Order: sequence, then C-alpha cells, then structure tokens
Amino acid sequence: MVFGVILAGGIGSRMGSVEKPKQYLNIADKPIIIHTIEKFYINDEFERLYVLCPEQWISHTKNLIRRYIGDTDHISVVSGGNTRNETIMNAIRQIESEYEVDDETILVTHDSVRPFVTHRIIEENIKYAKLYGACDTAVPATDTIVQSDDNQIISSVPDRRKMYQGQTPQTFRLKKLKSLYESLTEEEKQILTDAAKIFVMKGEKVYLVEGEVSNIKITYPYDLRVAETLINEDRLEE
Ligand code: CTP
Repeated sequence: MVFGVILAGGIGSRMGSVEKPKQYLNIADKPIIIHTIEKFYINDEFERLYVLCPEQWISHTKNLIRRYIGDTDHISVVSGGNTRNETIMNAIRQIESEYEVDDETILVTHDSVRPFVTHRIIEENIKYAKLYGACDTAVPATDTIVQSDDNQIISSVPDRRKMYQGQTPQTFRLKKLKSLYESLTEEEKQILTDAAKIFVMKGEKVYLVEGEVSNIKITYPYDLRVAETLINEDRLEE
C-alpha cells in the first residue's frame, strides 16, 4: 500500500500572511494546497491521501476539498503536530488506526506548499522507496554552498558537485520511519526538521530522486510571485 501525506500543519510565519497560513493563499484561481492535492489525486497508486493541517483549519480544508476536488472519500483531513516530523507521526498514527500496515507500506510525504511537483517525481519516489526503502527529491546546487559555523566567518566551502538542494517528496517505508523516529532522544527530535535526515543519521541509505528547479517551496512573498508566473506559463503550454 502507498499513502500520500500532504504536510500542511505549518503557519507560514516567513510569509507574513496574518489572515491565513500560506498554504491557503491563492495562486491563479485556487488555494496552493488544492493545486498540491490535485497532483497526488490524479495518481491512482495511492490507497488514500492524508492532508495534515492545523486543528482550527480542518473544517476549512475539508470544505476546500469538497469544493475543488469533489471527492472526500479518498482524502482524509487530520490535525498536524507541533513540528513537521510530529505532523508526519500524526499521519502514521491515523493510517495505523485505519489500515493493517506491513513492512512494505509506503508513505510519500510532501510539502503542501510545493504545488509544482510533477507526475514523474511522484512516480520515481514510489519506485525508489519500493526498491531502497527511503528516497528524497533533490536538485544539484546551482550556487556554491558556503558553510559558516558561527554565521559570520566561512568555515568551509564544500565541493559544489557533491551539493544538492533538498525538495520533497520524501518517501519512506512507514514502519522504518516510525521506528527510527521513536529511537531519537527528545533533543534530537527538536533539532531534526527533516525526515530524510533521521535515516541518514541512523546510517540508513536514502536514494536520491532527481527533482525539478520548478518544484519550488513557497516560503516568502517573492515565491508567490514566481508561482503565479509558473502557473501562467503552464497554462499557456496546455
Ligand atoms: N509543516 C507541517 N507541520 C508543521 C510545520 C510545517 O506540516 N508543524 C509543513 C508546512 O505546512 C509546509 C511544509 O511543512 O507545507 C514545509 O515547511 P515550511 O515551508 O517551513 O512551512 P511553515 O512552517 O508553515 O513556514 P515558516 O517556517 O515560515 O513558519
């Protein structure tokens, strides 16, 4: 079984949108979160989709899904957690309460604010998670990455050819992810914002899936302007 997990439990503080979290802002004619859910909804490999959002936004999210997608039978809306990984754990708890999961059960986790994910990226995530147990979407770094340990002085300049920028989806065997997460100390849980990093830290292999430069994460108001442009380009091509 393969489940889609759309992470929308954040409040989007860097966007500075006071009225609603960024995933509910519109690009073109509909909310970002709907664009993202649609990308998953058209893929029939998913047993069910789980959308995790802040508790007080659950009924709004359900209404949006009813209005724009129409199918509420295959999409569940569940409360997110305090951190991104806690949000994923809420998805796991919900899935385990509804299904008999086994070692092959796969979770495709994706940021609700990456509406430009492609069918190819989702397909490859599923394929490589089935083969290797864990995979992460990334693109080769275009800028040179410089590291600074004190945020003032450069401590190292890693070889750009080995540097990638992480995107999502990140896809894992459900049981493995759960057991690795549960093996972390509370301190480790606080600092680990990235689920793939949990695997890496514990010495587990994470396969790289080639992302797309256009698979942007909408973080700042500038990204919203870029997203509008990308959507309009897509529509001209159709
Ligand atoms: N996310 C989540 N649960 C959390 C925190 C984040 O599901 N407790 C989700 C966000 O909704 C988003 C994705 O993780 O879709 C990527 O996170 P980010 O862009 O950092 O979103 P926010 O935490 O909402 O933004 P900010 O850091 O600016 O507050």
